[in-house]
Amino acid sequence: MTPDRGYRVTSTEGTSVLAVSHRVELGVGTVVEEPCVLGKLPREPSGPQAVTRIGSQGVIRPFTTVYADVEIGDRFQTGQGVSIREDNRIGDDVSVGTNTVLEYGNRIGNRVRIHTGCFLELVTVEDDAWIGPNVVFTDDPHPPCPRYRDCRGGPIVRARARVGANSTILPGVTIGAGALVGAGSVVTADVPDDTVVAGNPARVLCAVSELSCAPGYFDKPYEWTAPKSAEGEST
Ligand SMILES: CC(C)(COP(=O)(O)OP(=O)(O)OC[C@H]1O[C@@H](n2cnc3c(N)ncnc32)[C@H](O)[C@@H]1OP(=O)(O)O)[C@@H](O)C(=O)NCCC(=O)NCCS
Repeated sequence: MTPDRGYRVTSTEGTSVLAVSHRVELGVGTVVEEPCVLGKLPREPSGPQAVTRIGSQGVIRPFTTVYADVEIGDRFQTGQGVSIREDNRIGDDVSVGTNTVLEYGNRIGNRVRIHTGCFLELVTVEDDAWIGPNVVFTDDPHPPCPRYRDCRGGPIVRARARVGANSTILPGVTIGAGALVGAGSVVTADVPDDTVVAGNPARVLCAVSELSCAPGYFDKPYEWTAPKSAEGEST
């Protein structure tokens, strides 16, 4: 099938955007700052039904490209120059920073922050996870292996985990819920829940609960993420 190319679609609030597929759906209030490309068909389209769906109240900043077969929730934000390939599923309240590349096959939950200059392919990122600048996720232990998709697969970042700047995550590794990966780490093995790791290869430093806030702004780092009790006090 020859793809349709180069026409404009209009969101329900009147934003006009260059698209390369008729199957682009923008929710109410989503602003697309041109130039952006939405609905780009991959080399091997998964089928004529593939849509690009972006929910309401989003901000898509200039030079962002979103392929076909991508579904994104409400209040989505991109920085400049973001690339989102086919077969990505992204929840609500997610932001993806400038020059980040989401290759195919990512599954990203709600309230996830992916910072500037990251690379993700076949990665699962659960709710409230935080990915620092220039984090690279790998999915092929012996590149370029023709069977890499059947091998270890992409990493998993469990809920509320945080990955420090310039870290590299090896294929198939799971970063546990609430864990913290130090800056510049090479994570070669699973990280237990609520644990701090750092270094190359990343080793366990301590529990997240053992971290202290040097200037004393907080009793403990991450106390601001603790659920509030009914009276509004931290629990
Ligand atoms: C890992 C981390 C959470 C530790 O914080 P901390 O407990 O305050 O760390 P300290 O400075 O007390 O260091 C504790 C020890 O770990 C080492 N260390 C700290 N961070 C490290 C890192 N990223 N890689 C390797 N070793 C590290 C220190 O050298 C020190 O070792 P020592 O006891 O032999 O001297 C922190 O250093 C870190 O990397 N945070 C992430 C920063 C980041 O990427 N932010 C992104 C937003 S821009």
